[in-house]
Amino acid sequence: MDIIFNRRSVRKYTDKKIEADKVERLMRAAMQAPSATNQQPWEFIVIDDKETLARLAQFSPYAKMLPGAALGVIVLEKQGMRAPLFTEQDLGAATQNLLLQAAYEGLGAVWMGVGRGTERETFLTEMFSLPESVKPFAVIAIGYPEDENANKFVDRYDAERVHYNKY
Ligand SMILES: Cc1cc2nc3c(=O)[nH]c(=O)nc-3n(C[C@H](O)[C@H](O)[C@H](O)COP(=O)(O)O)c2cc1C
Repeated sequence: MDIIFNRRSVRKYTDKKIEADKVERLMRAAMQAPSATNQQPWEFIVIDDKETLARLAQFSPYAKMLPGAALGVIVLEKQGMRAPLFTEQDLGAATQNLLLQAAYEGLGAVWMGVGRGTERETFLTEMFSLPESVKPFAVIAIGYPEDENANKFVDRYDAERVHYNKY
């Protein structure tokens, strides 16, 4: 699939807003992900308010692109799921789905990790007064790419990493 091969982390955006129907498709794509026992352990906060995006940028030193983004999405991990060992994998799939849909829609996006038990988690929990039932898993910045060719192929295939029938 071209989108898989061409998706890149895009950190520079134009001022153009993202249309509401595109935003909905991003969220639909995220929720279409596979999950252990189909537990769907996700919720999302979608942020298009510029002041909030600027404050959100302080959650990590590697989030400086957020004030320039049209949208920030916080991927939340629901607590108390029936297969808790696998919720992080489920959320990784949902986050990647969202990134791929963004590339498909002509947008640029970048995934920022939060990390369980980190200061980033505390910052986000306090900033959004999150209840104990959810923990922040990732933050995604999204916008129309400043460079129209920002999503482009980079070859990462390494045949030595593929093992056939035995390690
Ligand atoms: C779990 C995770 C955490 C990441 N955290 C950040 C981050 O905090 N800031 C950032 O700019 N990029 C972040 N990235 C993006 C990576 O830097 C990027 O995916 C990697 O350099 C490969 O480049 P590509 O996405 O263009 O293929 C993260 C990616 C993942 C999967």
